[in-house]
Amino acid sequence: MATQMADAWAVDVQNVSKSFDEIKALDGVTLRVKRGEIYGLLGPNGAGKTTLIRLIVGLLESRAGTVTVLEQRMPNVPVLRQIGYMTQQAALYPGLSVEENVQFFAAINGAEEGVKEALELVELYERRSSVVATLSGGMRQRCSLACALVHKPQLLLLDEPTVGVDPQLRVQFWESFRRMAAAGTTIIVSSHVMDEAERCQRLGLIQYGKVLAEGTPREIRTLGGSQNLEEAFLALAGQKAS
Ligand SMILES: Nc1ncnc2c1ncn2[C@@H]1O[C@H](COP(=O)(O)OP(=O)(O)OP(=O)(O)O)[C@@H](O)[C@H]1O
Ligand SMILES: [Mg+2]
Repeated sequence: MATQMADAWAVDVQNVSKSFDEIKALDGVTLRVKRGEIYGLLGPNGAGKTTLIRLIVGLLESRAGTVTVLEQRMPNVPVLRQIGYMTQQAALYPGLSVEENVQFFAAINGAEEGVKEALELVELYERRSSVVATLSGGMRQRCSLACALVHKPQLLLLDEPTVGVDPQLRVQFWESFRRMAAAGTTIIVSSHVMDEAERCQRLGLIQYGKVLAEGTPREIRTLGGSQNLEEAFLALAGQKAS
């Protein structure tokens, strides 16, 4: 029974705290994400979303608590190949072409295949020879997404992936996320955009390093007492802040 329960969770964060000097970035966070789920992290600037994502990837170690990803306690280097991470600020090699960047991330994750597919997904195949430094901001964002998913990871962590992406492509990104999740990929995505929050299966509202509320968009609306998710979110944030 215990093993079956554990298998269901791609990510299990238990009572994690993390401080940077006097700043308490995370304060006793517990959350679990099921395999194949799209889980949205919402919260204001400085709430702790990026810190939580970096802890899940294993780039940071927590002061207290445990992070388990795909059955392994993090940090754990071998698990990294099963994780795709799109950082909030594009982490690309500006002097390399779009294709070279994606090939590089494929190679370090032991996956040579899939470069063309990833470039087509983000609609950059025609621009594959362009040097990244010459791309528009939204194109750079798209290239980062291709780098994060080229090795077909089991867990995809996306830190505000659609900032600067035009509305048509944003819809396509979400359609791709939905398809990937249906095929078993677990996706954790941070966002400030409410229509994106609506597309997540479950949401965690983070404020001051704590999980304020958790649930499906419908449950969050009920908890916040509004049919409008943004209003519900603001109501929940206000309740706890006072
Ligand atoms: N490396 C660091 N050194 C010092 N302080 C940090 C560091 N990383 C994060 N912090 C602090 O931790 C808090 C949480 O930051 P974090 O980046 O996790 O927020 P966020 O929810 O991702 O915000 P945003 O929506 O602006 O991206 C902030 O007060 C931030 O200044
Ligand atoms: Mg952030």
